[in-house]
Amino acid sequence: MKPLSTATIEVTNSPIREMFNLALVMDDVVSFTVGEPDFLTPSHVVDAAVKALQNGEHRYTPNAGILPLRQAICKNYEKNQGVAYDPEKEVIVTAGGMEALFLAMRVLLDPGDEILLPDPCWTNYSRQLLLCNAKPAFVPVSAENDFQFTPEALEAAITPKTKAFLINSPANPTGGIAAEEQIKKLAEIAIKHDLYVISDEVYSQLVFDGGKATSIATLPGMRERTIIIHSFSKTYAMTGWRVGYAIGPNEVIRNMIKFQENVAACVNSAAQFGAIAALESGQECVSMMRESYERRRALITSEFETVPGLKCHYPKGAFYAMIDVSATGMTGKEFALDLLDKNHVIVVPGNAFGEAGKNYVRISFATSDENIVKGVGRIRDYMIARQG
Ligand SMILES: Cc1ncc(COP(=O)(O)O)c(C=O)c1O
Repeated sequence: MKPLSTATIEVTNSPIREMFNLALVMDDVVSFTVGEPDFLTPSHVVDAAVKALQNGEHRYTPNAGILPLRQAICKNYEKNQGVAYDPEKEVIVTAGGMEALFLAMRVLLDPGDEILLPDPCWTNYSRQLLLCNAKPAFVPVSAENDFQFTPEALEAAITPKTKAFLINSPANPTGGIAAEEQIKKLAEIAIKHDLYVISDEVYSQLVFDGGKATSIATLPGMRERTIIIHSFSKTYAMTGWRVGYAIGPNEVIRNMIKFQENVAACVNSAAQFGAIAALESGQECVSMMRESYERRRALITSEFETVPGLKCHYPKGAFYAMIDVSATGMTGKEFALDLLDKNHVIVVPGNAFGEAGKNYVRISFATSDENIVKGVGRIRDYMIARQG
């Protein structure tokens, strides 16, 4: 048989999957791996989708998504970030933020083009780039800068092949947020080097301590070069609905819509009606979930203070925290495998997110208080047994 495509070979399975497979054959495992809200979708959103189905909304929708949803998206972005976009020309509804990212990359990148990614970062970015025959170029980020680009390191990594850089704030896997001053300097670099910016803002409603994640698109000269990626998944506990969107310059969005026609035609119609209800009803459900994650952050970080030999990076948003295991002398992967084997707790090895994550493990605190106390208790026992 002739070989499969190069991308098929280059795109490997996620290391997170390997951990899951090991845990499958074990009893009584506490998991800190889940990257999605543990809440149900708010009932008014479910009701709106059911009603849409009952009303006969069973057909393809426009490739860009139904206009009332695009209007609600633009209104919501303007309310949160103060910048107006045209719902008819500058927004596309996609199958989650994931498809928005992929279509944006497909529109921006030619084979061999590079896009600068923070290391560590969400695993799917580099795999999606490989699917576009483009190249991820990693810029190490560190806990001192809340795992966001420093302007110096970002600028030093730019080559003639660089077409864009990607910001994810708040970030998966770190919970780190780019400070406003930092974002301003990154914007200056984008303009100076004529780069596009993909701004993954899927966690932007999950910022703690009353803070806000500034969208780089709001800065002078950035609207025309930024593609904002957003999603209903994390904000409204709608991961399975697969509704996200991209907002950006017409030239990019119109071509994403053209590709959408050939990839999925459109997002599930009823889910789009649910998404309108999510944006247009009161946002108390979002506040409730954010407060709940914030409370769990307090719980998990205070629990980790009692674990000898491990350092928990304090997350400012999302529902992830990075645990520095370097004092154990093990890599994050060795630590994760040994912890799973001995004390039945599953965490994600930091190398899954890049070389710079190799001395960390990621924990997700989108899980119950009971699970947090039990799981961190087992990690404490594990560390005490190692030290004793
Ligand atoms: C950083 C980041 N961006 C985008 C996504 C995509 O989410 P969805 O496709 O469900 O909107 C995820 C999901 O985990 C994520 O963590």
